[in-house]
Amino acid sequence: MKFEWSLKEFSKVLAILSILSPFVNADESNPAIASADSAVVKLTSKDFESFMKENPLVLTEFFAPWCGHCKNLGPEYQEAADKLVERNIKLAQVDCTEEKDLCQSHGIRGYPSLKIFKGIDSEPEDYVGDRKSAAIVSYMIKQSLPAVLDVNSNDDFTEFIENSDDPVVVQVLPTKIKDKSINETFYNIAESLRNKFTFISTSNDEIIKNYKVESSKPKYLLFRPNEELSHYSELPKDAKLDEDTLKEFIQTESKPLFGEITGNTFQSYVEAKVPLAYYFYSDPKEKEEISNLITNLAKEYRGKINFVALDASKYGAHANNLNMKEEFPLFVIHDIEKNLKYGIDQEKNFESKSIEPFLKKFISGKIEPIVKSEPIPTKEEASQQAVVKLVGKTHEDYVNDKKKITLVKYYAPWCGHCKKLAPVFEELAQLIKDDDANKDKYVIADIDATLNDVPVEISGYPTLIMYSDSEPVVYKGARDLESLAKFIGYEIVPKSETESKKDSPRDEL
Ligand SMILES: *[C@@H]1O[C@H](CO)[C@@H](O)[C@H](O)[C@H]1NC(C)=O
Repeated sequence: MKFEWSLKEFSKVLAILSILSPFVNADESNPAIASADSAVVKLTSKDFESFMKENPLVLTEFFAPWCGHCKNLGPEYQEAADKLVERNIKLAQVDCTEEKDLCQSHGIRGYPSLKIFKGIDSEPEDYVGDRKSAAIVSYMIKQSLPAVLDVNSNDDFTEFIENSDDPVVVQVLPTKIKDKSINETFYNIAESLRNKFTFISTSNDEIIKNYKVESSKPKYLLFRPNEELSHYSELPKDAKLDEDTLKEFIQTESKPLFGEITGNTFQSYVEAKVPLAYYFYSDPKEKEEISNLITNLAKEYRGKINFVALDASKYGAHANNLNMKEEFPLFVIHDIEKNLKYGIDQEKNFESKSIEPFLKKFISGKIEPIVKSEPIPTKEEASQQAVVKLVGKTHEDYVNDKKKITLVKYYAPWCGHCKKLAPVFEELAQLIKDDDANKDKYVIADIDATLNDVPVEISGYPTLIMYSDSEPVVYKGARDLESLAKFIGYEIVPKSETESKKDSPRDEL
């Protein structure tokens, strides 16, 4: 089966990483509602539509006066509105405690919700930037500019790149090219990623010459902020020219060689899908000392592994998610697609010179992942149970056994629904165990997903999955004996035909 980065783990990590996010030092003494003399426009159902018709670009905050995050945002929002007035970019507010219908019609579920309106006819987009005045201003200015800048001189080209705070993605499109579909794709990508990148398109002869662009094929380049102009990335010549390839190129190449991971940057690393190598440091000096070494390795492994530093004094607990001990510094690689973790042995003192050989072995598949696992049950323990107890180290062997039908219950010890299901599950397992004709066809198993790594996406407990010779199937039905048996194709033989067999112990209701 395809491994998934577990949702549960993902949100857990995000929660850890956001502990020190800028939103925590909340100043909730500010009013959420803008003052009467500010540039923020208060909208109601009466004037909402006409206002959107008249104004080409509006950021709207749907809020409630009592909401803490709205109060934090209050002064920042007001300041941004004042700064954006002269550019004809409007900031508006809708009080959802008074405008229930209006808020409902925009699908507002939480406060504040910030949405960008470009006229009344197009779907509003979510604002996903920081909630600080400077961030709002630059985000909205970007929204007001075309998604792609058409550049016609080499001087402008260099100037844009040198002054951009974001990575710059460049399309060099020779005029002779007939098939312009890739150009359309480029513009579409730019539209969707404009908040995080600057996009440039050019057909300028000097640039074509400088970057050795063939007349028959466009070229795609990426420049990272604060790096030398000569140090850019180029989409490989033989790469396919389609949306996925271009997007992947942009996501991968835009990352700094050795960036810092925080609540804000975490998601983009996860989305990049490439294995993520962490260096946890507890003292900034440790990071400085290793920076050259890792930056050089990162150049070599660009596109194969991303490298980040993590401040263990803030987010050290994240080590646990990566199956490492909270002993720093440490170096660990998380293969995000397979959700496997590979760390440098913590039994020995950490030495930076072990990183390079470790990476080589990782790339050639010569290191074993660190799997979180309870001990494998002994034969004796196993023989006493009808439900087979799986652990991190044995899970794969069972679910990949295509000769059997294996039903696995993923549970957490604290979960009430799991406790309720337990006797039913036990009964099913016992029935099968006692059924000589079928006992070798089925495995009824469970695993404590809090104590073991399970490479399965689990969005709630209990999760039941059936593995067989076809794709795994997640069980969605009622949690009673008959339904479960039916799900795995097991026929419960009526009691009268099984007189020779013992009744399974069960209190009659
Ligand atoms: C590329 O596509 C955009 C958006 O459709 C269009 O405005 C532009 O003229 C195209 N450029 C070329 C060189 O075809």
